[in-house]
Amino acid sequence: MKNILIGVTGSISCYKTLEIVNQLTKDGYNVNVVMTKAAQQFVGPLSFETLSSNPVVTEMFSADGHEKVEHIELAKQADLFVIAPASANIIGKIASGIADDMLSTIAMAVICPTHIFPAMNTKMLYNPIVQDNIEKLKRFGYKIHGTASGELACGDIGDGKLLPWEEIVQTIKNNVK
Ligand SMILES: Cc1cc2nc3c(=O)[nH]c(=O)nc-3n(C[C@H](O)[C@H](O)[C@H](O)COP(=O)(O)O)c2cc1C
Repeated sequence: MKNILIGVTGSISCYKTLEIVNQLTKDGYNVNVVMTKAAQQFVGPLSFETLSSNPVVTEMFSADGHEKVEHIELAKQADLFVIAPASANIIGKIASGIADDMLSTIAMAVICPTHIFPAMNTKMLYNPIVQDNIEKLKRFGYKIHGTASGELACGDIGDGKLLPWEEIVQTIKNNVK
């Protein structure tokens, strides 16, 4: 069984990742989800836990302690690491080598291919700093996917929407080895 590790960051499009996890699990993949604090403002870990039948990782340091060094274990097991939706923040953190929460720490530790699906307001997406971070990650071999165009949650119209979940599922399946 292939292991897909999915990072979820703080975007209104988090609900689409529920469909991604649901479909991959139904199709026989073992899916582990890591959520940032901001992501948990949009969707509850329980939803991902129920759909994936796996515990959801939300904390770097848990009160009950971990038997293993969890971020390294998850990173080692993963056949594919996916971040969907990927905020401007997580893209910037990875591009800078920052590892200050569970998701960004895992991102530094994975040895499998990383696929990033950005989602953000058009002005954020085309901010030259964000664009520079995307180019930097591409140079390091990260697969940074495009976005969809249309009406954004804030009412603006333009690029920056998370790609349709069906397309993301297909991309994951095509790339997991
Ligand atoms: C309603 C709402 C929607 C947001 N949507 C996005 C988004 O789509 N993309 C993004 O980069 N940030 C978005 N943000 C801001 C992020 O949640 C914020 O930058 C946060 O610090 C990201 O943290 P994380 O990368 O650790 O999840 C949104 C904030 C709010 C309040």
